[in-house]
Amino acid sequence: IHIRFIAADQSVQDIQGKPGQSIMEAAVAANVSGIAADCGGTLTCATCHVIVDAPWADRLPEPGNDEQGMLEFTASPRAPGSRLSCQIVLTPELDGIELRLPASQY
Ligand code: FES
Repeated sequence: IHIRFIAADQSVQDIQGKPGQSIMEAAVAANVSGIAADCGGTLTCATCHVIVDAPWADRLPEPGNDEQGMLEFTASPRAPGSRLSCQIVLTPELDGIELRLPASQY
């Protein structure tokens, strides 16, 4: 499953993830710079913040209450498409997803 990360400076990182992996796990495995993921996916750090734009945003399940709560603690301001990448599980339908990285995770 192909994932594209676009950093705040517009630099692009393309990686591959596996179905069932979270986007955060795929990013950490591929050493994507800009995803810190300090808590390892336990939804307590908000340093795996990504911004998902249309059309991809509509293809994701809505964030759950716990994710909504942690999205208030992102270092960079929360945007309409802000998500925590540890909560997005890869499925074949997400092949080619594009995500923007915030300017900072701290
Ligand atoms: Fe910590 Fe996602 S990795 S909230």
